Parts: sequence; structure tokens; C-alpha cells
Amino acid sequence: PLPYSTAKELSDSGVATAAFPFNYIACKPTAAAAEDDDNEAADEAQIPTIDFSLLSGRNPDNRAQIVRELGRACEEWGFFTVSNHGVPVELQKAMMDACAGFFDLTAEEKQDYMGRHVLDPIRFGTSFNSKVDDVQYWRDFLKVFQHPVFHYPTKPTIFRYCLTFHLSSHAFQQNKKKINTREVLEGYSRHIRQLGKDLLNAIWESLGLEENDMQEALSLKSCFQILVANFYPPCPKPELALGLPAHSDHGLVTVLMQNGTDGLQVMHNGKWLGVKPLPNSFLVNIGDHMEIVTNGRYKSVLHRAKVNNKSTRISVVTVIGPSLDAVVVPAPILVESQKHPAAFRGIKYRDFMEHQQSNKLTGKSVLDLLRL
Ligand code: SIN
Ligand code: FE2
Repeated sequence: PLPYSTAKELSDSGVATAAFPFNYIACKPTAAAAEDDDNEAADEAQIPTIDFSLLSGRNPDNRAQIVRELGRACEEWGFFTVSNHGVPVELQKAMMDACAGFFDLTAEEKQDYMGRHVLDPIRFGTSFNSKVDDVQYWRDFLKVFQHPVFHYPTKPTIFRYCLTFHLSSHAFQQNKKKINTREVLEGYSRHIRQLGKDLLNAIWESLGLEENDMQEALSLKSCFQILVANFYPPCPKPELALGLPAHSDHGLVTVLMQNGTDGLQVMHNGKWLGVKPLPNSFLVNIGDHMEIVTNGRYKSVLHRAKVNNKSTRISVVTVIGPSLDAVVVPAPILVESQKHPAAFRGIKYRDFMEHQQSNKLTGKSVLDLLRL
């Protein structure tokens, strides 16, 4: 028997409908919330869209324009949507199906991956860290390290189906006519890693910095890449529970793919705003390590996941960070002793992660520890 239930078991069994388990109550029901169940999603975030084809295309004026837009999005929102990224749609779909297939495995099958250490390369769990969380969160997750060493769960086998697709990704433009065959998980990871690195280059450029400085500051050749599949089943009391509490992401950038169900909210000018998933696009956000290396110019942004009582939401999150052994500090060029003194001290990325993931997930707590 499992030491705790997963969100899926609770949802499937219907026990939470009969009596909502008190340990899942994450939100204080307010008078306003009781009057209007939908009030949380009232305002929709107008997240800027970045046309990736213009960023990777051959026209330098277009690129310069998009780099400026990207810089503005990073400064004002910390979030942007990436369209025309060229990641094959069949690969996105297969990846979503594979993640859904994983959560559909029996509890016993998933248990093989349960409850191990945060730096274990494959880990299934529920809540955020169900051992230390004060309240349980209405989500199950699968985390798989993808780089510098690629890992894959043996089940479901669809993670390793071979897909054949045209290399239409702008990131692989030079190979445009080639046809590629890859396993689903590995293919998805490679595409997203390339997309992430191209975006990092452009973000770096938007600060007027050189690409070489970035390689040096972040050891991107051995960048850490982790895939997190989140499963939020229908919840009978969505106004009381949360899928994930307010937090920022630990890496440099996070690339998010979602099924058609919304639930993500972002903090913008002191208000929670709902994000509508756009088909065939990725949502990208700035992580804590980007805030550190830019000396606070581009800030990681709080976000959280709400749940609903109708449909399952699945999000497939890729975090791309520096090397796990890198100690990232503010880029010297962004530190001016008078006007902008260094705002953070450094810590090894793996220690940062361990800190965040073995404690309660609250706001930007680890980053706050590093503030000077
Ligand atoms: C996350 O913040 O890691 C997940 C967000 C989401 O499910 O959209
Ligand atoms: Fe997140």
C-alpha cells in the first residue's frame, strides 16, 4: 500500500466528492469566492507572443525587432508565448499521449518510481513534496532528467515509439529536407532543448550581451534539462484545492506545453491572471537562475496551477538550467558597483534545487536566501 494517495486515486474513487479531505484545503474560502465560483479566472493575462520563425530566420531586421519584443516581454511579464517554433505537431501530440499514458498506468506500476530523492533521474510523486507539504496539492507528477544524461521510463512504451517527421523546426533549418526518425521522448527533448537554447541566446542578446559571455556564465554545453509531466485530475472542490501553490521555477527558462484545459495563473502587477493555452504554441517563462545571472533585470515570476471539476489537465514542463555543477552569479557586465551592485550570491545549481525541492514550495524562497 502507498503511504499516501495520489490525486488520481482520490479523483477516481470519488471519496473526495463525499467528503473533501481537509489536508487538501489550500485556499481559504472567501465570501467572494463562495458567491462566484469563476471569479478566479475572471481576468485573462495578455501574454506577449514571440514569432520564433522571425527570430531564427535570415532577415536581421526581423530578428532585431523580435529580440526587442522578447526583451520587453521578459521585463514586463517574465512570460511569453512562442509561436511558429517548428517543433513537429505529431511529436507534441505523441508526447502528450505518452504522458497521459504514464498516469493511466496502475498505481502499482507507477509506485516503482515513487518517493525517492529529488536528484533521482526518474521520479513519480504527488503534491509537491508530500512528506513536508502542510497541505497536499491536487496533482501527480513524473520528473525525468533529460540532459546531460538522457533518461526514460520504461513504461508506457510509447515514450520510446519511433516517429518519423520532417525536420521542419526552424532550429534545424539547415536540415530542412531531411526526414528524421526518433523516439518520442528523446525527440521531444532535443527539440525543446534547441528551442530553449535559441531563446536563451536571444534573451541574452536583448540585454546587449555577447553569446560567448553566456556560455561562460552558464556552462550550457552540459545544461541541466528536466521534464516534468503534471497531471491534475478533476477535483470536486476546485475552489478549495490547488494543483500547485505560488512558486517560481529554478532554472533559466521553462518551456510549457499543455493539453487544452486551462488552470495556470501568473502573477502580474500584484494580481493573479489566468492563462489560456493556445494550440501549437509553447509558453515560456523566466526562471530564478535567469534572475540571478541578469542581476535582477529579468525576474522569475510567481505562478500557480488551479484545478477544475470537469476535466483533467496535463502540462508537460521542461526546465532548462545551467550545469548542475555551475555556480551562477550576476554577469559582471550587468554589475555596476554604484548603480547596480550584485544582487545575489551564487550557489551550486544542484544545491539550489535540493533546497527548493526538499522544502515547502513557497514563493521565491530559495532565491530570497541568496539576495544580498
Ligand atoms: C509548473 O509550474 O511547474 C506547472 C505549471 C502548469 O501546470 O501549468
Ligand atoms: Fe513552475
